[in-house]
Amino acid sequence: MDIQRIRQKAIEDISAAVTAEEIFTVKIKYLGRKQGEINLLLRALKDFSEEDKRKSGPLIQQLKNEIESAILFREKELNANNANIDITIPGKKIDYGHLHPITQTEDDVRQIFNSMNFSVIDGPEIEDEYYNFDALNIPPNHPAREMWDTFWIQSNKKDGAQNKRLLRTHTSPVQIRYMETHKPPFQIISIGRAFRYEATDATHETNFNQVEGLAIDRNISLANFKFVISEFFRQFFHQKIVQVRFRSSFFPFVEPGVEVDVKLDNSRWLEMGGAGMVHPKVLQGVGYDSKKWQGFAFGFGVERLAIIRHKIPDIRLFASQDLRFIKKF
Ligand code: FA5
Repeated sequence: MDIQRIRQKAIEDISAAVTAEEIFTVKIKYLGRKQGEINLLLRALKDFSEEDKRKSGPLIQQLKNEIESAILFREKELNANNANIDITIPGKKIDYGHLHPITQTEDDVRQIFNSMNFSVIDGPEIEDEYYNFDALNIPPNHPAREMWDTFWIQSNKKDGAQNKRLLRTHTSPVQIRYMETHKPPFQIISIGRAFRYEATDATHETNFNQVEGLAIDRNISLANFKFVISEFFRQFFHQKIVQVRFRSSFFPFVEPGVEVDVKLDNSRWLEMGGAGMVHPKVLQGVGYDSKKWQGFAFGFGVERLAIIRHKIPDIRLFASQDLRFIKKF
């Protein structure tokens, strides 16, 4: 019998057919009523012995079923391929995730200060009262502590800690930790979260980010700071002309202390953060000779930088998890 050979050939013919016409021709070749291979086989059966008929009949029937369903399958396949391709339909847009605008801002800040030879360091978000306040020349009961509304952490009596713990209210304690373990000269920045127990509004969050900077060397003055910070703003805002203004201000850990304002083109002056020359008491506290070493320090709001760069109306949008907002960046 040719069953095996016909099956093999039929499979080849069916898969070789790539148009509706070709598959129709294959259909006629195998299933056609007059000259179809299957019918020829069935007709040939009548000359067989009774026993051969009984054996071969079902096999031929089975082959017929197989070929029918293979052709049907191929017809559907070809239909799907041919009929449904419309090359004018626009492609499906793939949604890519991306970094949060604050992360993007922080990456840019890091990259710019890196290019000016500042190292990037980290510090803990849960701080000792000592690093957040005392070492920064803010003794207990000093009214300046009221500048920072603090989240205190309940102390575990068993650890007998002298120091109360808190969520750092600014990134300035990182300065102290770094100076305690490193000798000048150096220049560093640190970016991270700060926490304040205060009401939120369009420009204030209880949890926000700061970039802290510190440069210590033998002959540093506020003029060096002004150059560094102007260069930073120029690069960060992609502007040729950024004006920087210092307003006299008070922070216990610097002397003199300033607030830094910037002005882009024709817009208003905007406050960015605090800065100043590191207070001699702070330098002495970490064991530096304050006659020999000076330095500048600054602390800016990261959200503030992003708000100005992207003209964002409300700081609370950053943590809102509103995708309509996030997707804009
Ligand atoms: C400080 O935190 C000082 N540690 C800055 C400093 C560092 C001064 C080094 C001198 C030397 P101030 O509290 O002003 O200062 O905060 C600095 C900046 O952080 C603000 O200008 C603002 O941009 C941002 N900031 C402060 N509080 C909030 C808040 N609740 N929400 C969002 N941003 C805030």
